[in-house]
Amino acid sequence: MSNPTRRRHVLDLDDVDAGEISAILETARSMQEVLGRLIKQVPALRGRTVVNMFFEDSTRTRISFEVAARALSAAVINFSARGSSVEKGESLIDTVRTIEALGADVIVIRHAEAGVPHLVAQAFGGSVINAGDGRHAHPSQALLDLFTIQARFGTIAGLHVVIVGDVTHSRVVRSNLWGLTAMGARVTLVAPATLLGPAAFWRAIWPTVTVTTDLDRAIAGADVVMALRLQQERQDAGLLPSLGEYRRRYAITAERLARAAPHAIVMHPGPMNAGVEITPEVATTAQSVIEAQVANGVAVRMALLYHLAGEA
Ligand code: CP
Repeated sequence: MSNPTRRRHVLDLDDVDAGEISAILETARSMQEVLGRLIKQVPALRGRTVVNMFFEDSTRTRISFEVAARALSAAVINFSARGSSVEKGESLIDTVRTIEALGADVIVIRHAEAGVPHLVAQAFGGSVINAGDGRHAHPSQALLDLFTIQARFGTIAGLHVVIVGDVTHSRVVRSNLWGLTAMGARVTLVAPATLLGPAAFWRAIWPTVTVTTDLDRAIAGADVVMALRLQQERQDAGLLPSLGEYRRRYAITAERLARAAPHAIVMHPGPMNAGVEITPEVATTAQSVIEAQVANGVAVRMALLYHLAGEA
């Protein structure tokens, strides 16, 4: 496996162009081959230490980064704020410096506050991967979404991707917008006005994006339908009249999915509010690639770790 890029951090996809995304996805395909072997391990990161620092809950991202690092033979430390000196008042930056002194090469960090991974990257001498910061960015999720789309269609360019749900609180949507538009997809964002934000905001950053509150119109002929989780933990009260009203207008149901292209795939970054933004029937239909997204997360995160910390 070659390592064509040598970047230090992955904090978002805003500074990752189509060529670099393609190189990461190609490496992820090689990693997928490794994961298909009886012995799912290569020595690419032997002697390196990856520290997972999750200050916000996670199942998929945390476990898949751990599985990925172990498959590359790295040592893995799972830092938990609870029980650490953070509880005695040690600052985040002092914690990072301590972890560096203890030999960390890569920090994978999730935090509820946007921008924390960027701060950590300034203080840490190794590499930092943003595993999700506030509503800002979730680059490894966007890359595994791109990988999953490319695996199904062979390409991303020219596809119509409809992203529907709690757009305004979603870090997944922001990183996906960088990645999908860089790779030539056409993206439509759909949400109730209170969960969408001003169209001018989205178009100022991503001029090709379409923004609408009308899911039934937007979904017609779509190649990819990506439902987003309703993030009730990040919402102020009063953004929705009721969950029932939200379901009626924005849930991905079998009837709505029938309006998309016959070959359309259904995605969701997880965790799902089944029966709210997506029906259980759609989540498990043959068109759903939700489980493939989770599985692909390991290969894509192996590729990211390899690109940052593997041999040049
Ligand atoms: N998609 C995602 O980030 O899931 P987790 O919160 O379980 O990591």
